[in-house]
Amino acid sequence: PVLVVDFGAQYAQLIARRVREANVYSEIVPHTASVADLLAKDPAAIILSGGPSSVYADGAPFVDPSLFEAGVPVLGICYGFQAMAQALGGTVAQTGQREYGGTAVEITEAGTVLSGSPQQQTVWMSHGDAVHAAPAGFDVLATSAGSPVAAFEDRSRRLFGVQWHPEVKHSPLGQKALENFLYEGAGLAPDWNPGNVVAEQVARIRAQVGDARVICGLSGGVDSSVAAALVQKAVGDQLTCVFVDHGLLRTGEAEQVEKDFVAATGVQLKVVDARDRFLRALAGHTDPETKRKIIGREFIRVFEDAAREVVADASERSGPSGEVKFLVQGTLYPDVVESGGGEGAANIKSHHNVGGLPDDLQFELVEPLRALFKDEVRAVGLELGVPEGIVWRQPFPGPGLGIRIIGEVTQERLDVLRAADVIAREELTRAGLDRDIWQCPVVLLADVRSVGVQGDGRTYGHPVVLRPVSSEDAMTADWTRLPYDVLATISTRITNEVPEVNRVVLDVTSKPPGTIEWE
Ligand code: XMP
Repeated sequence: PVLVVDFGAQYAQLIARRVREANVYSEIVPHTASVADLLAKDPAAIILSGGPSSVYADGAPFVDPSLFEAGVPVLGICYGFQAMAQALGGTVAQTGQREYGGTAVEITEAGTVLSGSPQQQTVWMSHGDAVHAAPAGFDVLATSAGSPVAAFEDRSRRLFGVQWHPEVKHSPLGQKALENFLYEGAGLAPDWNPGNVVAEQVARIRAQVGDARVICGLSGGVDSSVAAALVQKAVGDQLTCVFVDHGLLRTGEAEQVEKDFVAATGVQLKVVDARDRFLRALAGHTDPETKRKIIGREFIRVFEDAAREVVADASERSGPSGEVKFLVQGTLYPDVVESGGGEGAANIKSHHNVGGLPDDLQFELVEPLRALFKDEVRAVGLELGVPEGIVWRQPFPGPGLGIRIIGEVTQERLDVLRAADVIAREELTRAGLDRDIWQCPVVLLADVRSVGVQGDGRTYGHPVVLRPVSSEDAMTADWTRLPYDVLATISTRITNEVPEVNRVVLDVTSKPPGTIEWE
């Protein structure tokens, strides 16, 4: 793999994604890994990421100079560039004068990484310190107002560095620079793609699972569906999926799992109809946190019961060798990285995802997506024939419509919200906007009523809120500027077709200060 050494501040994930977009497999490693740890992974190349520190700060992460003697091609980016300069005997000056945002650089010599770049270009910078003198043996390739040495290379030792961030889209030629490093600098072939993960994962799953039985909770979302489809491909009917229908899904979603997914993948599915149970448990509750807790608690109880039944069925049918030993989790790479990268750390988080199973249900985890980013999971899903409606599904919260009805959740209110929601989704799809927006919750203000007029009559109905948002990762978001004509169509259709709703309002709040969901 290409190893991306993480110096913090989220840059490493972006770099790893860009490397994979260049069709070269990459993994992220913490900066605390020793040179021996890094080399043990047999890296094809190493990229040192940016980070928030100054190389002069107390306890700043540093790079052991022996890394540069291992013969592995290295690219330093921003902090990684400075740490590299310092480790090899260059000078890094503590200027404290920041270059931030779009910055003009002058390319004085194209070299390897900047080959094909125009002499003047704008790149994305974010740094205080600057490299003033390159280490011996390096050619200086670029300068900017605040960075006397903005890029350098030592072609013979295959060591390269740039002060700016080629991984961000605000550096228009950044991807080209990364590809130059990978293909020309490190001599790598662009032969990796998420599709070829399938064969490798199938082999791994078979080796892990043997002839034991496996259980998987399906939510209808992308991650659990693709994970289940991979495990099904690997071990066929040793897998049983459990789908808890809590009645808080949107129109068509339960059918998508029960019919389309099963037809496409052939998984054995145990459907638990728990709709009444959830409604009873939610009756009378209006506090958002209480509603979330109730839904979470009921979900884990229903799932546990179903898991026990699967375990009991399996032992009756196939004896001890057919024991249910494994639980599939759709853990993705960002979760693995964020929880420390180690196997153990990520497992703690995964267990947490299923709410902590009781002692008599102890499963080992199968996590076939733990090396993949979301867009790669989608590519794998398409490769496996998972229905497009599932593969491209926008994020949907686990507690479902339960937290999109502001007030008590009742059957009638769920029906009203579902009717409004499906109209919004249909019109966004018709307008070709699905992949432009991150998600668009439709929220029913069930305890609010307002006066309206329809035909000759006065109405006293409820408002629904449209909450279209644009986001990269749901941590921050902006409200999406949907075209007025699309909004108008959604509004007209909802107020015409859903009699209980007489107003459609648009949420124009970013996150922060708002959250994406209303509860
Ligand atoms: P907020 O409302 O916190 O939502 O801005 C951020 C993202 O998370 C989703 N969300 C959830 N997803 N279980 C989930 O699996 C939950 O309890 C949950 N609550 C919010 C939300 O839809 C958005 O994408």
